[in-house]
Amino acid sequence: MAGKVRSLVWDDGCLKLIDQRRLPTSLEVVECRTYQEVADAIRTMKVRGAPAIGATAAFGMALGAMEHSHATPKEFLAAMKTISRELASTRPTAINLFWALKRMEKVVDSKQTEPVAGIVDALILEAEAIATEDVETCRQIGAAGAPLIADGDGVLTICNAGALATVDYGTALGVVRAANEASRDFHVYAAETRPFLQGARLTAWELVQEGIPATLITDNMAGWLMQQGRVQVVIVGADRIAKNGDTANKIGTYTFAILAHHHRVPFYVAAPLSTVDLSLESGEQIPIEERSPQEVTHLFGQRIAPEGIGVYNPAFDVTPAELISGIITEVGIICPPYVANLPQAFQMS
Ligand code: MRU
Repeated sequence: MAGKVRSLVWDDGCLKLIDQRRLPTSLEVVECRTYQEVADAIRTMKVRGAPAIGATAAFGMALGAMEHSHATPKEFLAAMKTISRELASTRPTAINLFWALKRMEKVVDSKQTEPVAGIVDALILEAEAIATEDVETCRQIGAAGAPLIADGDGVLTICNAGALATVDYGTALGVVRAANEASRDFHVYAAETRPFLQGARLTAWELVQEGIPATLITDNMAGWLMQQGRVQVVIVGADRIAKNGDTANKIGTYTFAILAHHHRVPFYVAAPLSTVDLSLESGEQIPIEERSPQEVTHLFGQRIAPEGIGVYNPAFDVTPAELISGIITEVGIICPPYVANLPQAFQMS
């Protein structure tokens, strides 16, 4: 059984997305019928989370192809390049976006001598395959990671790596879901995740929907929680993992990894292999998105900091591989040394 939430649904030429900016107060669906609407949805965080962004972009390519289905083959191929570039420009850190676009571009390349209508159909099928595979992959991640959660454990997570951040089920929350389905008795601590509050708004919402015992904390409470012995394992998602295991994830993740190391609490990353970027030797090469200062100076449209103050708003940080106990993937838990074991994991997939 998949989760109760599905972040996106393809409905005969229309991509329906849960508008994640509106949760938890209202559950609204946005309908995208053009690739520009899809690009806007990613850029403005109506949809967010690495695997969800990837699948959404794939449907964006499918919608763009449908819009150009009456073009000449030459015009069509040129348009697909423009559309892919536009979708790729929406957010820089999560590799799943570029991974999905590459898969779609491969379909175009392999069929470029065929009639345009056939390429359009193939692109729709590929986007649907990406979405379907994502759900299966998350379930495998859940099954691989569930044994890491024991009865009585406190599990700390940050941001939202749940059904909303994927197509369904989630990565870090997939592990939590699987442990819950195995009737394990544990407690989740969800960090609110300033400044965008994905933890408070989205993870807390998913956990309440599932009836999984959980407590919301502000990010600066994590150290105290660990000092009290209330956290036995930290499980987080990932936006990009370099070949050596360095992991970019939501800002604040690195702080939790340091705290976990200090308190000898195991720290796991849960992510599909599509989040691993073997072309990058280390985390230093991962591009980190900086977002609007307004996310820090304002809360729900209300100014909370004085005008004129400088603001730094990186959306992600990089946790060094040596702080990561293991990376939970669809082919199992990858252990250090990541530089040898991550490339090997691809051979198992
Ligand atoms: O800025 P966001 O909300 O897109 O960031 C999301 C995260 O950092 C998630 O932890 C990550 O994408 C993993 S989602 C399964």
